[in-house]
Amino acid sequence: MGKTPASARCGLNKQAPVIPFAVLVSGNGTNLQALLDAERSGRLGGARVALVISDRSGAFALERAKQAGKEALLIEPDKTLPKDERRRDLSDRILVAVQKTQAEFIVLAGFLSILQGPILKNYEGRIINIHPSLLPKFGGPGMYGEGVHRAVLEAGEATSGCTVHIVDQGTDTGPILLQRTVPVLPGDTPDSLAERIHHEEHRAIVDGVLELIRRLGLGTQGALPSESGTTGTGAAGQPVKDAEGTEAPIIHQPTITNQRK
Ligand code: GRF
Repeated sequence: MGKTPASARCGLNKQAPVIPFAVLVSGNGTNLQALLDAERSGRLGGARVALVISDRSGAFALERAKQAGKEALLIEPDKTLPKDERRRDLSDRILVAVQKTQAEFIVLAGFLSILQGPILKNYEGRIINIHPSLLPKFGGPGMYGEGVHRAVLEAGEATSGCTVHIVDQGTDTGPILLQRTVPVLPGDTPDSLAERIHHEEHRAIVDGVLELIRRLGLGTQGALPSESGTTGTGAAGQPVKDAEGTEAPIIHQPTITNQRK
């Protein structure tokens, strides 16, 4: 379904083609909320959250989805299955649900399960994830939640931030779309650093969706600009590409001077 032809999408008008997408969540859902707010304000252009799926019961993100009038599904891992089979089974059930909505792409917004199998092929280059560090640093298996920020502090990093990247077969390894950086400040705890980064995530996830739409050529050209002040965009707003034609990530630098070192 990720390869849905443009003809399968309905358009409100020429400026704002409707672009349905799915959001996968596991927790509070503040990043989902940022997307819902952006959709309501018109910032997402024609992009619409068509479906929200949680792999955990009790995830407040499901409430946020329902409050916004969105279809919200709970699809839990089958704990009777061995790990690999469990991941595959969950991924396959998610794929079926997502395909029903004709979603063009999938956003992992604080989704803790690992996707495996056909969903990665069906939606190749069309699944993005937000991670609370400056990947490739502090990513990979086991790097989530407070553990990420604790590791950043223990390593004495001067800067941290968040990354929106395309999901591939690995964990936190896919091509980076954009990053937002924050300083690590004297006296920071994992909680205080997490809070500073979380604030930036809410901008990054919206910009990440806009950037994906631009790269996939789904939006009306010029109608869905990412934020200015980036290092990924060259003269006349043209993306910067390396020798292989890969686009450089957009990197937002901190505006606060680092005082830690
Ligand atoms: C965020 O820190 C995100 O980077 C990580 O999970 C957290 C989700 O937060 N992948 P929320 O549920 O969106 O508030």
